[in-house]
Amino acid sequence: MLTGSGSPAQRAGSTEARSAEHPVTFRAARGGLHGDVRVPGDKSLSHRALLLGAVATGPVPISGFLRSADTLSTLAAIRALGVAVEDGGGGELLVTGCGWEGLSEPEDVIDVGNAGTLIRLLPGILAGIDRFTVLTGDASIRRRPMERIVRPLIAMGAAVSGREGGRYAPLALRGGKLRGIEHRMQVSSAQVKSCLLLAGLRAEGGTTVIDPGASRDHTERLLEFAGISVERGPQGVRGETWVRVEPVNSFHLPAVRIPADTSSAAFLAVAALLVPGSEVSLLQTGLNPTRTGLFSVLRRMGADLGIVPEAEDSSRPSGPEPMGTIRAQSSQMRATDIGPEEVPGMIDELPIWALAAAKAEGTSRLRGAAELRVKESDRISGVAELLRAIGVEVFEYQDGLDIVGRPQGWPGGTVQARGDHRLAMAGAVAGLASSGQVTVDDMRSAAVSFPGFIATIESLQAG
Ligand code: S3P
Repeated sequence: MLTGSGSPAQRAGSTEARSAEHPVTFRAARGGLHGDVRVPGDKSLSHRALLLGAVATGPVPISGFLRSADTLSTLAAIRALGVAVEDGGGGELLVTGCGWEGLSEPEDVIDVGNAGTLIRLLPGILAGIDRFTVLTGDASIRRRPMERIVRPLIAMGAAVSGREGGRYAPLALRGGKLRGIEHRMQVSSAQVKSCLLLAGLRAEGGTTVIDPGASRDHTERLLEFAGISVERGPQGVRGETWVRVEPVNSFHLPAVRIPADTSSAAFLAVAALLVPGSEVSLLQTGLNPTRTGLFSVLRRMGADLGIVPEAEDSSRPSGPEPMGTIRAQSSQMRATDIGPEEVPGMIDELPIWALAAAKAEGTSRLRGAAELRVKESDRISGVAELLRAIGVEVFEYQDGLDIVGRPQGWPGGTVQARGDHRLAMAGAVAGLASSGQVTVDDMRSAAVSFPGFIATIESLQAG
């Protein structure tokens, strides 16, 4: 059960009123977690459907759209660029794509809020048009590295600058005539790759991006879904991948059906694995193989996880992404090691994986995950602090963690979410799986990716 520290009136109010409070206490879910849930729509895909829809030609119906703080920033951004979007409610949107040349110069600065995907992908679209735009975001966004998109966009011919010589937002951008480049990313990043592919659609000649890993391929799939040719493959060198696009003049984007968010589902799957007596099914969840690394790792640890892909159904429009049901049952797990090659496929799930490791038999090791230090917060130090706060032994490295599992569970404590949605939700799950309780200092950030998170947990506790 949950308690907030707000007024009695707030406490008596709706779950959403309580979730807007900070802090929130999560107690051991003694009866287990039970039920079938469809978590909200995928965040990565919701951003991409809007951004690609904006520069398509004609109407683009979107279903399953995630209405969260991050994706509403993208909706506001494309409207600021003059794109018409009809909101049918309940995840249904109709974007009227106007092509690159139909975009207008925004009158004001675009504020992306906390949305890293927006501030890294939108410049890829804007780089190809002669408009002036300034992009900024919250304190977390203004600390995150931007040079990784600024440099290659400049190499393609766009005028881009940012604070501290282009390292940080605010970013100022004037697009124009672009030339294709071959760019080798230093760190595997779907955001950087997507930015350059979007710019490549407007560049003269082909644009190739070489990825040291296999980052999520939602942009590639969406481009292919729009009939745009995308060449790609493994590089030959172990783990590397490459992708190449050629310029297009215009394209149509068919109706996009967005699955439930794999990363949001991951929190509930791990909660079910950790809380004794649980069985939870996560319906219509995205099963893109570049996103499901956590589930393979959990199975290796001995988790009872069933994954049933949805059969192709001719009565329903197909989307660009596979989806299906994930069923998770309480499991005793054993420790595992995660190396650099597994990191891109579970990058956003590492905080919740760490909690699974904290209850496994033995010591788990994570390495090659330095990228976690430049996410919404420094997630290596944030996870280490969270685990210590609940009574788990953990050792921190520059690029990872050693986590000493406590199969008997942990007593709980007070954790700091650092304004980071994934740390906040990991803290909540820690409380449900504790033998006592966990107080998360501030749960409001959960709305960045998983609106209704607390209500969903309550419904699973009610079973
Ligand atoms: C995302 C890519 C990942 C991920 C982020 C969403 C995307 O970031 O961590 O939450 O939608 O492309 P990086 O590309 O920086 O690894």
